[in-house]
Amino acid sequence: MRTPIIAGNWKMNKTAAEAVDFVREIRNKLGQIKGVDKVVCPPFIALPGVYDALQATDIGVGAQNMHFAESGAYTGECAPNMLTPYCQYVIIGHSERREYFNETDEGVNQKAKAALAHGLTPIICVGETLAQNEAGETQAFVSGQVRAALDGLTAEQVASLIIAYEPIWAIGTGKSASAAQAGSIIGLSVRGPIADMFGEETAQKVRIQYGGSVKEHNIAEYMAQPDIDGALVGGASLKASFVELVKNAAG
Ligand code: PGA
Repeated sequence: MRTPIIAGNWKMNKTAAEAVDFVREIRNKLGQIKGVDKVVCPPFIALPGVYDALQATDIGVGAQNMHFAESGAYTGECAPNMLTPYCQYVIIGHSERREYFNETDEGVNQKAKAALAHGLTPIICVGETLAQNEAGETQAFVSGQVRAALDGLTAEQVASLIIAYEPIWAIGTGKSASAAQAGSIIGLSVRGPIADMFGEETAQKVRIQYGGSVKEHNIAEYMAQPDIDGALVGGASLKASFVELVKNAAG
């Protein structure tokens, strides 16, 4: 019922020229993979070039961040309408933004609302730290993040967005959460609170990704979990072998 979605979060990697070369290299093979939505999220400066290079394909483009305001004195930021010509998606509240750029649950909620108002699909990131995980606080913390992020949205808006559950201790560390562990947290702490807030029918429509050290050799295990609808991929989205990862996700 839910179409799986694999998104590559390039983070602060690749110049605009390198980004275009890379998508030209992978676009034909990536475009041939069916049954899974494919998205690349390059840095802001590379968005126009990547958008152009992917014009005749079914590969989507996402930004990695966005300000919620329409315009104004926010040095260094990009407004929603600056992204809409090039993107269909925007990653919101990635743990690196929460940690290094002081993003709060409230700001994530404002950004989600702004993205939806501009027709962008938010990929909202949630996830606990290692200390929280070891202290048994995962469920309370992650469900709190989900509730805060979705506060004030309509059921229809929620059904259209994407949530990425990314345990912080698994990002870039090579230490991925087991598929069963991730599937269970996603069911309990992500889909569960959505069902409480917006009803079971809406919760069943939301696509929820796992993220954190997803590679071509482990993606199939995550996809086998009924509550996992794809992945947000960092390091493994920077190389041509991303195509293999997406192929393995499509099954
Ligand atoms: P990783 O990053 O795949 O390199 O662990 C995932 C992410 O931060 O989105």
